[in-house]
Amino acid sequence: MVKHISHIGIAVKNLEEGIEFYQKLGLELEAIEEVPSQMVRVAFFPCGDTRIELLEATSPESPIAKAIEKRGEGVHHIAFAVEDLPAALTETEANGIRLIDKEPRPGAHQADIAFLHPKSTLGVLIELCKENH
Ligand code: CO
Repeated sequence: MVKHISHIGIAVKNLEEGIEFYQKLGLELEAIEEVPSQMVRVAFFPCGDTRIELLEATSPESPIAKAIEKRGEGVHHIAFAVEDLPAALTETEANGIRLIDKEPRPGAHQADIAFLHPKSTLGVLIELCKENH
């Protein structure tokens, strides 16, 4: 079902500082995008088959602002690429894994995304992602 790691989402307080750091590691900034539905600004760095996705909250109500408040900056989620997201969600649920999103919703980078519930994923916030690029 899972093809590869689509991206690793990392919560940062300041996107520009985050960008500077990953550029120092030699990664190249691909794009910056705002996702109003998630109240985040996102910066992408391709890294092989995957991307580093830096997430900065644009509102105190943003899930990213809440995550930073609780746990500080750092890895927020791991996104696995799947070919057919609705089918993957049906299969995941049939396998007894709880979902946060029962239906795909639009994410950054023109992807369709859905989150699994961390209570049934050993504490890791897992996103399933249908890449459309
Ligand atoms: Co993501």
